[in-house]
Amino acid sequence: MTASISDILLDWYANHARELPWRNPPGKAVPNDAAWPYRVWLSEVMLQQTTVAAVKPYFAKFTATWPTVFDLAAEDEGAVMAAWAGLGYYSRARNLVKCAAQVAELGGFPETEEELRKLPGLGAYAAASITAIAFGKRAVVIDANVERVVSRLFAIEEPLPASRKAIRAHADAITPHAIGTDQSSDFAPGNFAQAMMDLGAQICTNKAPRCLLCPLANHCEGRKLGEPERLPIKPPKKAKPERLGTAFWIERGGEGGREVWIATRPAQGMFGGMRGLPDDGWTAREDGSGQQPISGQGKDLGAVRHTFTHAHLTLKVVRIKSTTQPDGDGEWWPVERIGQAGLPTLFAKAARLIEAQDDDAS
Ligand code: ADE
Repeated sequence: MTASISDILLDWYANHARELPWRNPPGKAVPNDAAWPYRVWLSEVMLQQTTVAAVKPYFAKFTATWPTVFDLAAEDEGAVMAAWAGLGYYSRARNLVKCAAQVAELGGFPETEEELRKLPGLGAYAAASITAIAFGKRAVVIDANVERVVSRLFAIEEPLPASRKAIRAHADAITPHAIGTDQSSDFAPGNFAQAMMDLGAQICTNKAPRCLLCPLANHCEGRKLGEPERLPIKPPKKAKPERLGTAFWIERGGEGGREVWIATRPAQGMFGGMRGLPDDGWTAREDGSGQQPISGQGKDLGAVRHTFTHAHLTLKVVRIKSTTQPDGDGEWWPVERIGQAGLPTLFAKAARLIEAQDDDAS
């Protein structure tokens, strides 16, 4: 029974694997190429908390700009942060830079799950997925897709997160034992890990699982019980607090045209190390003070909404026309090139509000 689940799944994957730019197709040996673990690592870091569709253009841009981990390690942190802008969860980008530096110093990626786990930004999931996909070594890879598939396959009624122990034990039991890196083998660990992910993403979906198309339907205890979409049972969602903050568009007329003050945010804290509009000190835990970073007549331009992991934010946007330079790190940036500043999505939304006003005014 146990062996046959992996056999069936690998068979299914051989015919239904998604074609993805960071993926080695089923039936092909793991590339013997120094850039291969780098591509796997980069994709796995990007894919945490982010959809495949959102990651694709970023993966293309990063691998074209920095084809190896050594290229990335040699880059200025600000340039990497700016290239990451829009992908969210910016601590991943800071850890990406730190991790690249450590890997370059080591001369390449370590090949065991234990060693990978010690690198900045690599948790249990990423270390396991890189072990399996980049190096073809057995590892028990559990992401949200796998949690869902396993919870249904074995009808785990215990709610998350307490059920994680049972999920791991079941996932371990169905993960085949394989030796070597030959991805053309039916038992290649990278294929199995990605087959589970693809089944979760395409068939065993959150709300309306497509059980009629599922290769594991006959093995699925959740399906036998009926309503497999009930599983996994999740703890009740906490309501997110509503936060209020203000961002300031401080604008001066420069020699070559209008310029806006773009701050470099402190390394610690939200959007650490990224460029952004100066603000009134709001955080996920506290509303902002509303105080302006410089004096001058501010004009209220409306507000943008943004949702973070732990809070919803309404960010008021205030324009101040002034040549006074605010305190702190930053630079005067040409307004017409604001799209190239590498602003996180929240501030890009605020900048669009300004553009809309400009359009109205013209
Ligand atoms: N999500 C995270 N890693 C993935 C991968 N290698 N393939 C598809 N989806 C993923």
